[in-house]
Amino acid sequence: MHASAIAHPNVALIKYWGKRDVAENLPAVGSLSVTLGALRTETTVEFDAALKRDVLVLNGREQPLEQSRLAACMDAFRALSGCDEYATVTSENDFPTGAGLASSASGYAALVTAAAGALGIGLHEARTGPGLIDVARIGSGSAPRSLFGGIALLDVQAQGTSCRQLSAPAEWPLAVVVAVTTESRKDITSRDGMEQSRLTSPFYAAWIGDHADDLAAAIGHVAARDFSALADLSEHNCLKMHSVMMTTRPALLYWSPVTLACMQKIVSLRAEGVPVFFTVDAGPQVKAVCLPDAMSTVVAALHDVPGVVRIIAGELGEGARVV
Ligand code: PMV
Repeated sequence: MHASAIAHPNVALIKYWGKRDVAENLPAVGSLSVTLGALRTETTVEFDAALKRDVLVLNGREQPLEQSRLAACMDAFRALSGCDEYATVTSENDFPTGAGLASSASGYAALVTAAAGALGIGLHEARTGPGLIDVARIGSGSAPRSLFGGIALLDVQAQGTSCRQLSAPAEWPLAVVVAVTTESRKDITSRDGMEQSRLTSPFYAAWIGDHADDLAAAIGHVAARDFSALADLSEHNCLKMHSVMMTTRPALLYWSPVTLACMQKIVSLRAEGVPVFFTVDAGPQVKAVCLPDAMSTVVAALHDVPGVVRIIAGELGEGARVV
């Protein structure tokens, strides 16, 4: 009873920040993302009747699992599948972990896909079957989106979440250039930060109030393949989320001077006619989304920004899959 799966991180263009239900890890709002083909997580799950608890080996090191998200996710998976065995989970990222590059999204998408594969649950059911999207979500609110390739939409309903692909990589080819500004782990996790924002930011209610309109408009721009409209809206949505972060108490300042320099570079490229826009999550890395023909120009421009540690670039990736 073992299987391995690959999943790619994703970056939201219309973001979620805040939970409707903290215990269930239910996001307050829906989100829309692109899956990053250039980064990958590979995870193996092996169920074993002899184990007395789950074991996680991440990037070659065993991790403490008391009250962890992984244990909660595996418990939810066992409740859903009827399997009562613990598992050894071995996971490797080919990019910095916990540094604002969505390693938890790809990690939990790969975990659910490998666990389903180990029990012979088919890939189609793993993506659409009852509860598996919710099991991934218990691990990370953004993980269901990494089950899908290209552009994905996560919707929040009263009882749970649903997720689907809006466009396959070949249907609307886009590229993402990541400017890595530091390889260190972030101080404040998304999970803690967003709850603090919900409790203390005076802008939180406005952020939630506008969100459905942003999501509906973005779905329309994807359907129309309207890059320029999606660019304007995505940057606006990102900056609204960061306004909430910055006005949280204590303040969540995820940007470094290099983050801002990259954002300004991207704004000036677009003013010169290069089809590119920025987005930034709960960390200092900058993701530039562009049309594939512009990728080399964007890579060169961000490479020249002082303080950029390295560049990772590629086209949109496929959804999580058993290998
Ligand atoms: O649930 P998490 O920890 O993956 O939080 C994701 C938060 C953001 O990346 C900032 C936004 C998003 O929608 O991905």
